[in-house]
Amino acid sequence: MPLTFDDLLTRARALPRGGRRAILGIAGSPGAGKSTLAEALVRELNGTDGTWVAHVPMDGFHLADAELDRLGLRDRKGAPDTFDAAGYAALLRRLREQGSDGGGDAGDTVYAPGFERVLEQPLAGAVPVPPTARLVVTEGNYLLLGTGAWTRVRSWLDEVWFCEVPEEERVRRLVARHEEFGKSPEEAVAWVLGTDQRNADLVAATRDRADLVVPETALARVAPPR
Ligand SMILES: Nc1ncnc2c1ncn2[C@@H]1O[C@H](COP(=O)(O)OP(=O)(O)OP(=O)(O)O)[C@@H](O)[C@H]1O
Ligand SMILES: [Mg+2]
Repeated sequence: MPLTFDDLLTRARALPRGGRRAILGIAGSPGAGKSTLAEALVRELNGTDGTWVAHVPMDGFHLADAELDRLGLRDRKGAPDTFDAAGYAALLRRLREQGSDGGGDAGDTVYAPGFERVLEQPLAGAVPVPPTARLVVTEGNYLLLGTGAWTRVRSWLDEVWFCEVPEEERVRRLVARHEEFGKSPEEAVAWVLGTDQRNADLVAATRDRADLVVPETALARVAPPR
């Protein structure tokens, strides 16, 4: 039987065991549908209550443009070393500890940074994680990278799922999204096949480390209209 979105809901629901909070990671190349899957999971798992699951994107750990300029990395924005991976790992640890008995932040809301797509900058304090969240869904390109501080990131995740989509479709979606956020068609194609493609190849090489590979067919019910 092919994997369905309901199978994913059942599997995610079972992750928090006992009193402990669980953290589910969703990895995949740029444009593979990670955010779409995370948002659909959060929407359906939360139902009307709204506080059982929280969505914390890795995108909030992009270094700011001012720091990328200082480091000479601005033209590689989106590559693994243009993120604060150590900060991300530390936040995941806090989120784990907040969710266990006697954790340091017990009773407090923990704030994660968000990513502002129009400014293309991280934004502190944008994503609240209430103490009631039993599951945190976090998503990003490099969860399974296994180098430097990314190794610590993986160590705080209960499971990591990998979004898989045919390459042609992935490129089509990304170009469309870059155009939507203001790039010309030529700029969009150049970015997607240049900088983004190197990052996509790095991510694709981590697929076999995932606990579950999610084919795009599993998202048919929650896919956005084309
Ligand atoms: N199953 C799907 N079918 C059709 N379109 C989809 C599907 N999933 C996502 N998309 C579209 O593809 C684009 C990329 O999706 P999404 O933003 O979820 O990917 P992502 O992996 O989070 O990308 P990024 O790495 O850039 O953050 C969006 O415009 C989204 O609407
Ligand atoms: Mg995304």
